[in-house]
Amino acid sequence: MNILLIGSGGREHAMAFKLSQNPKVKKIYCAKGNGGTAMENKCENIKEKTIEELLKFAKENEIYITIVGPEELLIKGIVDEFNKEGLKIFGPSKKSACLEGSKDFSKRFMKKYGILTAEYESFTFAPKALEYLKDCIYPCVIKADGMAAGKGVVICNSFKEAEKVIYDFMIDDIFNGYGKKVVIEEFLEGVEASILSITDGDTLIPFISAKDHKQIFDNNQGPNTGGMGVIAPNPFVTDTVMKEFKESILKPTLRGLKEERIEFKGFLFFGLMITKKGVYLLEYNVRLGDPETQAILPLMKSDFYDAICSAYSGKLKGFEIKWEDKNSCALVISSLGYPCKYNTGFNITLDENIDGNVFISGGTLEGKDLKTSGGRVISLVTLGNDLEDSIKRCYKEVNKISFKDMYYRKDIGLI
Ligand code: AMP
Ligand code: GLY
Repeated sequence: MNILLIGSGGREHAMAFKLSQNPKVKKIYCAKGNGGTAMENKCENIKEKTIEELLKFAKENEIYITIVGPEELLIKGIVDEFNKEGLKIFGPSKKSACLEGSKDFSKRFMKKYGILTAEYESFTFAPKALEYLKDCIYPCVIKADGMAAGKGVVICNSFKEAEKVIYDFMIDDIFNGYGKKVVIEEFLEGVEASILSITDGDTLIPFISAKDHKQIFDNNQGPNTGGMGVIAPNPFVTDTVMKEFKESILKPTLRGLKEERIEFKGFLFFGLMITKKGVYLLEYNVRLGDPETQAILPLMKSDFYDAICSAYSGKLKGFEIKWEDKNSCALVISSLGYPCKYNTGFNITLDENIDGNVFISGGTLEGKDLKTSGGRVISLVTLGNDLEDSIKRCYKEVNKISFKDMYYRKDIGLI
C-alpha cells in the first residue's frame, strides 16, 4: 500500500516512523515532509501543496489512503474534495472540522450536549464586546473565532488589555477576517491535559494521556509556543479524571456527532483543564497534537496503520490499542528566539548512538547535511520505566545533539 501523508512537522515525522513499521505499507509520500521524513524508512518527500495538487498526486500514484496531519486543509475541506472523487482519506469533513476551525461552533456544540466548558459569550460587533468587557471578571480569555496560527487566544488581566485585543482582532483585523468574531470566556484555573484519540464516528478510543508545556521558558514563563515538551502519561490524569472524562466529555461528544450527523473519521484531540470544580473541556482539535504525538506514538504497541484502517472502515469497535507499560518524555529543541524572531540554516549534528527517537520538525536535508529551518527543530523522545527515568534519559541524550542557537527547556516533566 502507498500512503500519502500530509504535513511537515515533528508530528508527521513521528506518524511516518510509526506507519512505516507495518509490512503492508510499501511507500509513504510526505507532502511536503521535512529533513526527518526525507531520511525515514519507506518515505519520500513531495512538493504538492494545494488540495488540487494533492488530489491529482493521489490519483496518479496509486495512493491507497491519504492521512492528514495539520488542521489547515481539513478546515478547508480536503476530505470532502477527496471523497467526491472516490479517494480514501482519513480525517473529518469540512463541517466536522469546525470543531476546531470555529471556537463559536465548538462552544455551542459543547453547551448543547452538556459538556462542561468555561462560560462564554460570542460577539460579532466590537462595541458590544467592549461593553461586556467593562463589567466582566478578570482575568478573562478572548479567543478569535477562526484560524489564527496559534495566536488567537489571549488571557487578559484588565479591561485595558482586553480593549487592545478587541481592537486588534475585530477592528484592525490582524487575522484577516478570522478574528472578526470573538468568544469571551471565563478564565479557568487548573492543570491542563491533552487526550488524543482515534474515532470512526461511532467508537472513540482515547490514547494515553499527555501533558504539554506551552510556554517558552522554564517555570512556565514567557509567551506561548506550539509546545516545548510533553510527558506521557500525564500524572494528573488519574483513573478518576479519566472516568470523568469518558462519562462527561467523551460520551456526549460522540452523541453530539451522531445527532448533528457530523461524519467524523479521524483523530480528535481533547484539550482539558482539570480544576477543583471538575474536568473541563477547553477545546477540540480535529487532528493529533504536536508534540504530543511524538511522545505518544513510541509508546503504542499496537499497529498504528491498522488502527487507522479500522477507523476508516468503521470497525474500531473491538479494536484494542495496546500500550507499553512505560513513560515517555519528548523534549522540543528549538532555535533561540522562537516563538519570536530566530535564525535558521545551521548544521545539525546528531550522534549516531542516541538512545531514543529523534523526530525532526524544523530541519531540512541539504545534500547530506541536516540544517535548521524552523522555530521548533527537533523532538527528542526517550522512554523510561517511570516518569523520572524517562526525563533523566532525555536530558542525558540531548547532549548528543547540537546546532548553533540551540535552545530547550530544562524542566519538562518537572513542573
Ligand atoms: P485553546 O486554543 O482554546 O486551547 O487555548 C490555548 C491555550 O489557552 C490553552 O491551552 C490554555 O492554556 C489557555 N486557555 C484557553 N482557554 C482558557 C480558559 N478558559 N481558562 C484558562 N486558560 C485557557
Ligand atoms: N500541542 C498542542 C497542539 O498540538 O495543539
